[in-house]
Amino acid sequence: MSNINHPIFARVYKWISPLAEKQGSADHREKLLSGAYGNIVEVGAGSGTNFSHYPSAVSKVIAVEPEPTLRKEAVRVSRNLSIQIEVVDGTSEDLPVDDNWADFVIFSLVLCSIENVNTALAQAKRVLADSGKILVYEHVRSDNPKEARRQDLVNRIWPLFLGGCNCNRDTPSIIQNSGFQILTLDSFRFKPTKIWIPMEPHVILSATAI
Ligand SMILES: C[S@@+](CC[C@H](N)C(=O)[O-])C[C@H]1O[C@@H](n2cnc3c(N)ncnc32)[C@H](O)[C@@H]1O
Repeated sequence: MSNINHPIFARVYKWISPLAEKQGSADHREKLLSGAYGNIVEVGAGSGTNFSHYPSAVSKVIAVEPEPTLRKEAVRVSRNLSIQIEVVDGTSEDLPVDDNWADFVIFSLVLCSIENVNTALAQAKRVLADSGKILVYEHVRSDNPKEARRQDLVNRIWPLFLGGCNCNRDTPSIIQNSGFQILTLDSFRFKPTKIWIPMEPHVILSATAI
């Protein structure tokens, strides 16, 4: 269905992401998802790291993941949980979900990697029910010009090694310019590894379509 295939990144991500979880990422996921309920679409679910953080008020999760190695791992993780999670092949640009189905669309560490973010956000709008929300956890472009310039420099090669991830995206502005109103925004710095990487500025935000 999709042609997104990053076998090396997928294997590395599967092993390094538990380290980031221990450094604090697990707490961020908890914060992102603690208020979620009803029907959820998770876009680019990766290896299913969010799954154990969904609260019991969630009825069903459709977890869309195009990369085959990560999708297989997400299926495995979904089997051990009490919440109904359906892992499906697909992309953010063409979500395999009915119109107005979702109470929440989750983008967690994925808007950095999606090639066409505007189309992905338009798809999120399509599948969201009235008053539905997007919940976003993301590393973002620094608002410090010097740090942002460093991100721009590193980003010349960064996506080649990190499965298409861009370290310099101003995701909150992109969301606002795509017909969403930001309802809550928590900006913070987070160092997922001990070595320097150009991904310290992070946000957790919620937004609704206008
Ligand atoms: C850094 S991983 C994050 C995985 C997971 N969301 C998490 O929080 O750990 C980025 C994910 O985005 C997925 N991805 C990349 N492009 C995508 C697209 N166009 N549509 C859906 N998912 C995409 C990748 O396959 C990968 O699973």
